[in-house]
Amino acid sequence: MQPLPERRARESEMSRMGCEALKAKVMSAEDAAALIEPGSTVGMSGFTGSGYPKAVPLALAARIEAEHAAGNPFKLRVWTGASTGPELDGALARCDGIEFRLPYNSDPIAREKINRGEMEYFDMHLSQVAPMAWQGFLGPLDTAVVEVSGIRPDGALIPSSSVGNNKTWLDRASKVILEVNRWQNPALEGMHDIYYGTALPPHRVPIPLIRPDDRIGEAYFRCDPAKIVAIVETEAPDRNLPFAAPDAAALAIAGHLLEFFAHEVAKGRLPAALLPLQSGVGNIANAVLTGLVDGPFEDMTSYTEVIQDGMLDLLDSGKLRMASATAFSLSPEAAARLNADMGRYRDRMILRPQEISNHPELIRRLGCIAMNGLIEADIYGNVNSTHVMGSRIQNGIGGSGDFARNAYVSIFMTPSTAKGGKISAIVPQASHVDHITQDVQVLVTEQGLADLRGLSPKQRAEVIIETCAHPDYRPGLRDYYRRARVGSYGQQSPSLPGEALSWHQRFMDTGTMRA
Ligand code: COA
Repeated sequence: MQPLPERRARESEMSRMGCEALKAKVMSAEDAAALIEPGSTVGMSGFTGSGYPKAVPLALAARIEAEHAAGNPFKLRVWTGASTGPELDGALARCDGIEFRLPYNSDPIAREKINRGEMEYFDMHLSQVAPMAWQGFLGPLDTAVVEVSGIRPDGALIPSSSVGNNKTWLDRASKVILEVNRWQNPALEGMHDIYYGTALPPHRVPIPLIRPDDRIGEAYFRCDPAKIVAIVETEAPDRNLPFAAPDAAALAIAGHLLEFFAHEVAKGRLPAALLPLQSGVGNIANAVLTGLVDGPFEDMTSYTEVIQDGMLDLLDSGKLRMASATAFSLSPEAAARLNADMGRYRDRMILRPQEISNHPELIRRLGCIAMNGLIEADIYGNVNSTHVMGSRIQNGIGGSGDFARNAYVSIFMTPSTAKGGKISAIVPQASHVDHITQDVQVLVTEQGLADLRGLSPKQRAEVIIETCAHPDYRPGLRDYYRRARVGSYGQQSPSLPGEALSWHQRFMDTGTMRA
């Protein structure tokens, strides 16, 4: 007889494939990949580096390469939850296997192909992907390839470390390939809340979620077993990158925000526990969460898209009561911390479909405090989150639009300069606009925090230049604004469009961005 801990471990490993009736469908990743039709549309799981299939996409890439060498190249249309990992986006982009991709990408190889014009990319609000798929606007979905952390005896699927659009892919796809990943912690079971109550107009009803910790759905995905054509067993880690230690700019931004929150509480405009926090992706957002660990706010909650390291720190500190999201986005160190103690964290975390984690109705009802990063903001507070120099995609809009438009307070944050100080993040006119001024209520850089609520465009311009811009760039921005106040066609939002958009270029050509 095996000692108890090993026996338990073995039993839990076996229970990953608990459904006898489905065992006949277990096969190799290569055999499963062979079931995907050239030119078809594949809905993959995955949200940031979590819960994406890790074996079938690699086998698919190898098949595409072999077919390419044999003179039969083919491509696929790939839908996901958001960004994934190198075994999916990286591998399929490298072999030229993606013809069309949605909805968010941060893979460097795919980014390069998109920016070279070799891959079509539909960058969407993340909350809208599932509804649009149901509305039929995206076309048919041929195959779902979804990572799960186990299959129960009754065939219900235990979700993995991200939920994303999996429910929709499993429902909509003609056939389903599952990856059952033993690496995922068995204690994930019970953490998820899969809501099956969404419908298309005119049959839509209110979503019955009143507090971030409400559970309104089921812990498992349903899936018609007749659609499951292959099951591949894997034991492969999620891939997320470590966060950089917060630098001086990140710490200053966190400090300004903490001061702002304290001010809003003192004014009676925010409760002492704040309102449910949404925190965007990236190092700055992570630093702000870490900053809240030392702040005065207790009993906080989070209704957000991803749980990153700082959120785990906040939970550990006891200041964050619970977090609701659609995925983990943890550094390897934090993932190990979570996995070592999943049972304890599980009751304070809920993972939901992204159409629910990012749902405008719920964000507005809960009154989320949205905090997102940006590439550039203009002096009126239009925000560009996606395009460098107006044409080159960085990642995508992700959930920033879902939250910014509907938040109780919509905050955008950035260091005041990029590329080692050579580029100002505050510009006369954004080269691309993702978030219009009405959706940008607070702008923060390490220089200061501009509260733009209730200000007209000209008032906003003055506050943004004097509070948020780096001192090296303030003279250039003031000069532009002064001349726009004289020479602009209208004086509601004074601008000199031809000059504004060449501002970057002009400074770059002369080798310096400083005015
Ligand atoms: N001009 C040119 N390049 C710029 C720039 C600017 N004004 N600002 C940033 N960049 C570059 C950086 O130099 C960096 O490039 P590199 O990778 O070649 O070094 C890259 O853009 C990313 O910037 P970084 O400073 O690492 O920012 P970040 O990790 O804080 O991310 C966004 C910033 C905007 C890219 C990121 O927040 C994002 O993708 N946002 C959209 C999605 C989103 O908000 N999701 C959350 C919703 S829940």
